[in-house]
Amino acid sequence: MNQVIDVILNRKSVRAYEDRPIPADVKDQILLAAMRAPTAGNMMLYSIIEVRDQRSKDTLARTCDDQPFIAKAPLVLLFLADYQRWFDYFMVSGVEELCRQRGEPIRKPEEGDLMLACCDALIAAQTAVIAAESLGIGSCYIGDIMENYEAHRDLFTLPRYAFPICLLCFGYPTQQQKDRPQTTRFKKEFIVFEDQYRRLDTDEFAAIYRHEEEQATRAHTLPEGIGNVGQWMYTRKFSADFSKEMSRSVRAMMSAWQAE
Ligand SMILES: Cc1cc2nc3c(=O)[nH]c(=O)nc-3n(C[C@H](O)[C@H](O)[C@H](O)COP(=O)(O)O)c2cc1C
Repeated sequence: MNQVIDVILNRKSVRAYEDRPIPADVKDQILLAAMRAPTAGNMMLYSIIEVRDQRSKDTLARTCDDQPFIAKAPLVLLFLADYQRWFDYFMVSGVEELCRQRGEPIRKPEEGDLMLACCDALIAAQTAVIAAESLGIGSCYIGDIMENYEAHRDLFTLPRYAFPICLLCFGYPTQQQKDRPQTTRFKKEFIVFEDQYRRLDTDEFAAIYRHEEEQATRAHTLPEGIGNVGQWMYTRKFSADFSKEMSRSVRAMMSAWQAE
């Protein structure tokens, strides 16, 4: 096992940080690593906003499904899927005139462009995560940044082709976070297939969380009226209010992106 694999395999999300800043040169290494990530067409279809203003961090702690630790993170980076920069570049490069000469309508960023920009932004984000980890700095993704699109658009003066895809909190982990056990993952056979997609059968689904369900049954930790992990995850995550708000917010962002 080499050091890189070691860092990747030992990582866990960190949600409580020591009260000490990340030095500027260390932050720069994290950002440089992020910007070195692979990027579609070498276009860097993302932007990164370092959220330094404490009031903005306080707002995010509220608007991202009430997660107070965001306000306490020494480094908060917002990753935007960003086609605005390239579309602006096209405009100042005389692309409108070019299309007129060719008798073609000008093409604006569409759904595929958004997906590609999301890929770019997330790959850059994960590269920052691994770089930080290798420097002893913990991190946590905040997917809830996709909620409350209008509030985040106003907070960061986002133009229509800049979409908040993830927020990352960074900081030196507290001892309690270092001691916390790692989360488990599904077994490889449920995730990695050969040649074809394979839908899992009932027995395989039963096997995925068998251990956790047995533990929960013994310890009576499943909530009242919830019979298994599938029901628990459905109510706690999939059909929870934050998921519904995320879908509403993404729809609002998509209609801004696609507006004529
Ligand atoms: C896209 C994405 C969104 C996430 N959003 C949140 C979040 O809003 N709040 C949080 O505490 N953790 C969030 N996480 C962290 C996951 O909960 C965490 O990765 C998962 O439970 C596995 O734990 P581990 O990272 O410690 O292995 C997110 C992770 C990802 C990849």
